[in-house]
Amino acid sequence: MKRKVNMAVIGTGRIGSVHTRNLVRAIHEANVVAVCDIRLEVAQAVADELGIDRVVKDYHELLEDKDIEALLIATNTDTHAFIVKDAALAGKQIFCEKPLALQLADIDEVMQIVEDTGVKLQVGYNRRFDKSLQRVHQVVASGEIGRPCILHITNRDPEPPSLEYARTSGGMFLDMSIHDFDMVRYQIGEVEEIYAIGNVLVTPYLKDIGDVDVDIITLKFTNGAIGTIDNSRQCVYGYDQRLEVFCSLGTAMAGNEFENTGVMGDRTGFHSAKVPYSFIERYADCYITEVRQFVQCVRDDKPVSPTGYDSRASVLLGMAAWESFRQNRPICMQEFTGK
Ligand SMILES: NC(=O)c1ccc[n+]([C@@H]2O[C@H](COP(=O)([O-])OP(=O)(O)OC[C@H]3O[C@@H](n4cnc5c(N)ncnc54)[C@H](O)[C@@H]3O)[C@@H](O)[C@H]2O)c1
Repeated sequence: MKRKVNMAVIGTGRIGSVHTRNLVRAIHEANVVAVCDIRLEVAQAVADELGIDRVVKDYHELLEDKDIEALLIATNTDTHAFIVKDAALAGKQIFCEKPLALQLADIDEVMQIVEDTGVKLQVGYNRRFDKSLQRVHQVVASGEIGRPCILHITNRDPEPPSLEYARTSGGMFLDMSIHDFDMVRYQIGEVEEIYAIGNVLVTPYLKDIGDVDVDIITLKFTNGAIGTIDNSRQCVYGYDQRLEVFCSLGTAMAGNEFENTGVMGDRTGFHSAKVPYSFIERYADCYITEVRQFVQCVRDDKPVSPTGYDSRASVLLGMAAWESFRQNRPICMQEFTGK
């Protein structure tokens, strides 16, 4: 029998608790030996629920523990860079939630340390593990429906984040659209030009921190394709997730996954089932698959993906989107990166 990978989770909030449950209940290649959160009571509740013995408040304690081989980091975005850096210097294998950091200088410093220490670093772009989105990728990449021409992504959250969360998240383009920026690279390739417009229409407190709650982003790709992304922080009918890659000889789409496909008609019209309410339901399988892949790669000493470099590329697009929004003009990525 293959060995298990001893792991600890740092940050057991919304997504960290999902990852911990998955690690304990579904990823049998891992053995969760500790959980950590600066809000000790939050980590304690997760530990009690899952029968995890060790609970700590300060992640440095985990770095000193030679029995812990890998860390899953799911703390707030503005803490990722320093925790990943410390973890790499301690020789731990790392899975970090998206995005790796909000500043390119931080990402570059982290990636240098990751390279120097030789540890693995996988970043949590979970949508790359979705079966429908993988199928679109496979069909488009094979060329069987011609060259990609137009990409559309609709990505709408059911309800806005708390002000506390939004403050440390990097805002709409670096927190929510970041998944779409990773997805456009996965489906089509590199972006040549980006133009972002946005507004605050339903969440007044986001205006106070300079954020937006709706946006439209248009993209030109280096291969000639063009695309749009639309995002909303509020969507009353659930978590709306759609993608289409229209190609010269056909189209490939991933639509919403309804609870069932039954349709009921009555005097008021036709009614179908709801879409999943949140990312936790819609992408439940992906959260398991991405972390299982990471654990297996650690166990079998194989390269991980998506990497910190993928995260850098999507953060760069997020930063260019903010610049475009502020200047109200398209931004050429070459001009933005100075290359
Ligand atoms: N891939 C996805 O689908 C997805 C979904 C949600 C969130 N995320 C990402 O995951 C991260 C966390 O988001 P969330 O929604 O779970 O936030 P959250 O606020 O619910 O949880 C973050 C937790 O980290 C803890 N924490 C903060 N600093 C810490 C430190 N120094 N040491 C230990 N614990 C610390 C907080 O106390 C909190 O419990 C963010 O980077 C976010 O972008 C990814």
